[in-house]
Amino acid sequence: MWLLWVLITLTIIKLYNKLTTGKCYCDNIVTGKVVIVTGASRGLGYETALDLARRGAKVIVTCRDDIRGKQAVETIISCTKNKFVRYIQLDLSSLKSVRKFVKEFKSTEAKLDVLINNAGAIFTKRDKTEDGLMRDMQVNHFAPFLLTILLIPILKKSSPSRIVIVSSALHKLGDVSEKWCDTEGYFQAYANSKLCNVLFSNELARRLEGSGVVVNSLNPGQVNTSFYRSSTILEKMRSLVLYTFFKSPEEGAQTSIFLAVSDECDDVSGRYYEDCKESSVSLKAKDKDLAVKLWSMSEKLVKLSPEEVI
Ligand SMILES: NC(=O)c1ccc[n+]([C@@H]2O[C@H](COP(=O)([O-])OP(=O)(O)OC[C@H]3O[C@@H](n4cnc5c(N)ncnc54)[C@H](OP(=O)(O)O)[C@@H]3O)[C@@H](O)[C@H]2O)c1
Repeated sequence: MWLLWVLITLTIIKLYNKLTTGKCYCDNIVTGKVVIVTGASRGLGYETALDLARRGAKVIVTCRDDIRGKQAVETIISCTKNKFVRYIQLDLSSLKSVRKFVKEFKSTEAKLDVLINNAGAIFTKRDKTEDGLMRDMQVNHFAPFLLTILLIPILKKSSPSRIVIVSSALHKLGDVSEKWCDTEGYFQAYANSKLCNVLFSNELARRLEGSGVVVNSLNPGQVNTSFYRSSTILEKMRSLVLYTFFKSPEEGAQTSIFLAVSDECDDVSGRYYEDCKESSVSLKAKDKDLAVKLWSMSEKLVKLSPEEVI
């Protein structure tokens, strides 16, 4: 009997969550728009790329792994019949890979309408990349920073254009220190990197004012993606809990899609969204001095040349 009550309660919670989650109701078709979605092999990035391909966009799917990337492209093309979806390899744990990606993208595409910095990860083991940066900070902030800065000229040329940065509600627990060292726990390091996403988005919006390029950050909510999966024996029970309380990847992708296609966001920049609505950020995320400090640190650590600085 108790099992029945548990199932009824979980079903009610699931229904409530489904009915209250934010949805992008905009049905804009974006045929011909060129969109990059980082980390589109699975999870939120995959759902975002799938939706944009359905709307007719020319979607560039990126991830680290050629097999996963090509599989994602094949599935998106077969689901949407949009042949203008392709894969370019991008490993954010290598700054060389970021530069290689930008070179390949620029040599094959004449414009860029939307850049969606979605890829991100939480690393339970903390170590450094080949660039000497902490892996979590590089994948979640420094490499997307470099990628975005290198793409600013083409985004400006293609304006009106948009940048969408996927952060997290956990940015509220984050801090910015100059150490970026491995003495912090992985959870704190993840929160720090997500604060960097919001600070970067806000500072970039200020620097791009009047350029026709808008930039906004977002929290997708708690979403049941591979982000939370592991192969323990508790997996099945955990799956049920995640299914009930968390959004599906399709639901989680709604705010990214909204910021990428909705007319409501044409002139909106430097804001933070949740459930397709503007939301509030932490006090630290509003700190302009901290954003400038992070910017200078990031420029130095990713080794931007004087001509690349914006
Ligand atoms: N899920 C949530 O509840 C949640 C909540 C708040 C914020 N977020 C944010 O949402 C974004 C997407 O997360 P998700 O839940 O969709 O996670 P996911 O299912 O684990 O997908 C992550 C994506 O990022 C890519 N990626 C990971 N490491 C990479 C690297 N070094 N270089 C290039 N790509 C890399 C993965 O590609 P590979 O195939 O190469 O591994 C994959 O496509 C992240 O920024 C995350 O911080 C998620």
